[in-house]
Amino acid sequence: SSNRETYRPVYHHTPVYGWMNDPNGMFYKDGVYHLYFQYNPYGSMWANMTWGHSTSTDLTHWTYEGTAIVPDAWGAIFSGSCVVDKDNTAGFGKGAVVAFYTSAKSTPWGDVQSQSMAYSLDNGKTFIKYEHNPILTSTERDFRDPKVFWYAPGKHWVMMLAVGQEMQIYSSGNLKEWKKESSFGAMQGTHGGVWECPDLVEVAVEGSKEKKWVLICNLNPGGPFGGSAAQYFVGSFDGKKFVNESPTQTKWLDWGKDNYATVTWSNAPAGRCIALGWMSNWQYANNVPTTQYRSANTLARDLTLYRVGGELYLKSKPSPEIKKARAEEKKIPTFEVKGNYEVASLLADNKGAYEIEMTIENKGTSKIDFSLMNEKGEKVAMYYDVVRKQFVMDRSASGIVGFSRDFPAVTVAPVRNTDQIHLRLFIDRSSVEAFGEEGEYVMTNLVFPAEPYNRMVFSSDKGSYIVKSMNVYRLQ
Ligand code: FRU
Repeated sequence: SSNRETYRPVYHHTPVYGWMNDPNGMFYKDGVYHLYFQYNPYGSMWANMTWGHSTSTDLTHWTYEGTAIVPDAWGAIFSGSCVVDKDNTAGFGKGAVVAFYTSAKSTPWGDVQSQSMAYSLDNGKTFIKYEHNPILTSTERDFRDPKVFWYAPGKHWVMMLAVGQEMQIYSSGNLKEWKKESSFGAMQGTHGGVWECPDLVEVAVEGSKEKKWVLICNLNPGGPFGGSAAQYFVGSFDGKKFVNESPTQTKWLDWGKDNYATVTWSNAPAGRCIALGWMSNWQYANNVPTTQYRSANTLARDLTLYRVGGELYLKSKPSPEIKKARAEEKKIPTFEVKGNYEVASLLADNKGAYEIEMTIENKGTSKIDFSLMNEKGEKVAMYYDVVRKQFVMDRSASGIVGFSRDFPAVTVAPVRNTDQIHLRLFIDRSSVEAFGEEGEYVMTNLVFPAEPYNRMVFSSDKGSYIVKSMNVYRLQ
């Protein structure tokens, strides 16, 4: 990728050129992470939906592999998933990679969406479309984004589908014929827009041997700060029906504006549950100030569950592989903030791609305030509100913000503890991802500064706080 592009991330996946939205069909096989994505190979706005394909062995460095599935008579290729058919249940071949996607066609009588499949006998490089496509049709207008996985206890496949404002669950023994088992959605969570890109995964509960099923439900619009966002439900699943443990609560996967269409890797190694999102928002995705390409993915995140009182919540920890991208470390000696304090240079010539890891101890202030700034006075203001127990990020003066009235925004996450804080901030040219307490809360926001931020300006009110450790890492 060209380093002359101001906003192209260094350590996040982006298309070399053209438009990208949702991550699709992610699977792991033989040491390789495959990532397909909603792709327009012919322009940098949404159109001509195709599956682009990239691969990685470390979830950080990506190689573009070309287009994998292209539009046909059934329509454009919308979002979906892949499975590795180890036991050849479909008869395409042992270990065939089988892709499920939505065929989306505009017709004079409206948009028609149906589910199709294609299989690969060369580890996901090229796909052969199934000759009897489509495999599932409907008269529903919004009928899409198949997520397929193997349900071992029942020895059958499961397909999750986003249909209007619900998720439908289907089952199959051969990946070709599907039977509807149940619907999930009425009176559950948030319904500000259509439900899209489902996922259903079994996730380990920290500190126990227990596992729970988590239904990831992307919705657009209806996010906590407008536009697209990902909510999730924790509960049980018997192969046919998902039951949410806490129907009246909405749980958000990320508290920023720019983490959408999050889904997980199929067949991930060592029982890991690794999630990836599209780092944008339908409110302005087509208008962000890049031209050669549009959109990046979030950092890969390992998901686990943790308990607070009686409730289970997802923790999204940056996948450990990102530590291998650390190229240079700068340790800033401990300091106390009583009034104002400035770290005038985070990292000389930082190229806009670095991580800041901080531990903070509160000594009686009600506001732990720190802003990333550049020499142009542009800033990403962040603070912990000790009284309200919140982490806040304000990008309204972060750089270019005028391309959409929905872009200048303040995003807020609830936090449990503001006495001792651990925070990792990942800055990559045009994004800031904040992970508090190893991922108990996450906030992902795009930013478009005229030049990289390289200062951090701290302040407190009344009392003080101690920045016990502050490490800055160049990331490559
Ligand atoms: C989500 C989405 C999906 C659809 C795809 C089309 O961002 O709207 O529901 O399959 O994008 O590109």
